[in-house]
Amino acid sequence: MPSLVLATRNPHKVTEVRAILGAEWNVTDLTAHPEWPDVEETGATFADNAALKALAASARIGDAWVLADDSGLEVDALQGAPGVHSARYSGTGATDAGNRARLIADLAKLGAAAPRTARFHCVIALARNACIEGRFDGVVEGSIIDRERGLGGFGYDALFVPQGYQDTFGELPAAVKNGMSHRSRALTKVIAFLRTRA
Ligand code: IMP
Repeated sequence: MPSLVLATRNPHKVTEVRAILGAEWNVTDLTAHPEWPDVEETGATFADNAALKALAASARIGDAWVLADDSGLEVDALQGAPGVHSARYSGTGATDAGNRARLIADLAKLGAAAPRTARFHCVIALARNACIEGRFDGVVEGSIIDRERGLGGFGYDALFVPQGYQDTFGELPAAVKNGMSHRSRALTKVIAFLRTRA
């Protein structure tokens, strides 16, 4: 069975990646190594940060495929914010709920006429033996609503309605989100790449 190490301790990301990849893959993550320091996400782009995380984990792990995802929400009326700052949009000690509250407040300040279009963007870096072997991206377009709906998912899911749907990612079944998400679109490319390297 092919193996992948996810360079994350975010349980939501791990659950989604496992669900998207299915039982054919042996997926582990970094929760078994609490002593490894968190990587500072100092990059200016999702690709930079994904590479930083993949390389740091791969340098410790060695000869195994390591996958790091960096992802976030880009809101057009906010010139692409929160973008690479999505996880810490509401400042030090940010929580998902705090980040959603700040997003609602920032859009409210712009008024009802401002466009609500946005997208989730994911870049996955794949590393082995401390070398980047590939970068893969995925995007899902949609819009931001003014109050939270739904308890599923994580992050900004309760505020994001994917194009062509009425419900938010927080309301849609996980399988529906996982069938179209930025992460699943990037992962599909990763799988195709890994099949050529098997
Ligand atoms: P990262 O761990 O640095 O990649 O930060 C990702 C952040 O972007 C998360 O903390 C969420 O705020 C947001 N994000 C990324 N993917 C999703 C998603 O699928 N749903 C909702 N929010 C997401």
